[in-house]
Amino acid sequence: MSEAATPPGSVPGTVFPPGFDPVAESVEKTLCFRGFWAWAVLILLIALGISLFMWLLRKCIQGPAYRKANRIDGKVVIVTGCNTGIGKETVLELAKRGARVYMACRDPGRCEAARLDIMDRSRNQQLFNRTLDLGSLQSVRNFVERFKAEESRLDILINNAGIMACPRTLTADGYEQQFGVNHLGHFLLTNLLLDRLKHSSPSRIVVVSSAAHLFGRINREDLMSEKNYGKFFGAYSQSKLANILFTLKLSNILKGTGVTVNCCHPGVVRTELNRHFAGPGWMKSVLQTGSLYFFKTPKAGAQTSLRLALDPQLESSTGGYYSDCMRWPLVPWARNMQTADWLWRESEKLVGLPPLEPPPPGQSPTQNGNGTQNGIGSSSASATANPASGEMQSVETVVVNRS
Ligand SMILES: NC(=O)c1ccc[n+]([C@@H]2O[C@H](COP(=O)([O-])OP(=O)(O)OC[C@H]3O[C@@H](n4cnc5c(N)ncnc54)[C@H](OP(=O)(O)O)[C@@H]3O)[C@@H](O)[C@H]2O)c1
Repeated sequence: MSEAATPPGSVPGTVFPPGFDPVAESVEKTLCFRGFWAWAVLILLIALGISLFMWLLRKCIQGPAYRKANRIDGKVVIVTGCNTGIGKETVLELAKRGARVYMACRDPGRCEAARLDIMDRSRNQQLFNRTLDLGSLQSVRNFVERFKAEESRLDILINNAGIMACPRTLTADGYEQQFGVNHLGHFLLTNLLLDRLKHSSPSRIVVVSSAAHLFGRINREDLMSEKNYGKFFGAYSQSKLANILFTLKLSNILKGTGVTVNCCHPGVVRTELNRHFAGPGWMKSVLQTGSLYFFKTPKAGAQTSLRLALDPQLESSTGGYYSDCMRWPLVPWARNMQTADWLWRESEKLVGLPPLEPPPPGQSPTQNGNGTQNGIGSSSASATANPASGEMQSVETVVVNRS
C-alpha cells in the first residue's frame, strides 16, 4: 500500500488515506461555507421582498387620502356614531380644520372619552357631546330639538353610525335593528334637519353606506326580515342599499336648494363594526391578525367621507356614490328610482313623517306597495311610529318643520 504524497500547504508529516485529495476537500469546505451564507442572504432577501410587498399592499389598501388643506373654521357639523372607528377619525380631522362638531352618539360615556381625546389632539374646544340613539325615533327627535335650540345653522351632516350583522333584534319602535338604525334613524334625522341645512346652504349631507349594497335587495314583501333574516347578506346589505337609494331620492328633492347629498363606501376598515361576529375563537384571531395587513386603518377609512364633506371642488356635486375618494357608477338595482320612490314613501310612514309627494295613483296614503298598512307586518311597531294607529301622536307634534 503506497502512501499519498503530502500536498503543498498541508502540515508536513500528515498522512492521508489513499484517494483523499485535501485540496479538493478544502475547496469543498470553502464552498460549503459560502453556501451557508448564500442561503442566509437568499432567505434575508426573500424576507425583505415579502416585507416590501406587504408594505406596498398595505399602502395600496389604505387608498388615497384627502390632502387639500382647506379649513372650515366655525362651520357647524353633526357626525353620528363618532365615539370610535371611522366616525371618530372623521371628527378628529374636522376638528383640526376648525369645525364646531356635534358628536351624536348613543353612549354618553364613550362619547365623552372620545371628545376629550379629540380635543386634546386637535386643540379645538368646539366639540359637543350629544346623545342620539338611532334605534329610537324619540331619541332622534329629542336630539334634533336640542340641536335646533342650540344652533341656528348646520353646514355638514355626516350620517356615519351603523351596525352590522347583529342577531335579529328590534329597535325601540319595533323595527328590525339594522334597517332601523342604519336607514330609518338617519332618514328621520336628515329630514328633521333639512330646514337648517337649507338655511345654511351651500351645505352638505354625507351618507356612509357600504359596498355590501351590492348583495342587497329592498325586500318589499318583508322589509323587516320577519320571514327570513340574513344577518349580513340580508338585513345589513338591504340597509346599506337603502342608504344609497335614500341619497339618490334626496338629491332629487334637494335640487336647486344648494344642499348636496352624496354617499360612500369607506373601504374594508379595521373597526369595531364586526363586534357581532360570532365565529369560533381561532377565526376571530386570524381575522384580527389579517386585518392588521389587509384592512384600512380608521383614519384611511375616513378619507372618502372627508373629501365629500370638505372638497371645495364638490360643492355642487350631488347624488354620487364614492369610494377611495372617487366617484363610481352604481349597479342597476342601486339606481332604480322606482324602488327609491317606494322606499322614501315607506320610510315616511314608518317614522311618522307626512308625505312630501302625493302617493302614486291607486294607492292610499297609508298603504305600502304590498297592500299592507305601513309595511309593518308585526304588531310590535309602536303607536308613535305607526300613523295608522288611533293612539298615534299627531304628526305635527312629532315633526319639526322640514320645509
Ligand atoms: N368598517 C368597515 O369595514 C365598513 C365597511 C363599509 C361600511 N362601513 C360603514 O361605516 C360606518 C362606520 O362604521 P365603523 O366601521 O366605524 O364601525 P364602528 O367602529 O362599530 O362604529 C360605529 C358607530 O356607530 C355607532 N352606533 C351604532 N348603533 C348606534 C345607534 N343605535 N345610535 C347611534 N349610534 C350608533 C356606534 O356606537 P357604539 O360604539 O355606542 O356602539 C359607533 O360609534 C357604518 O355605517 C358602517 O356600516 C364600515
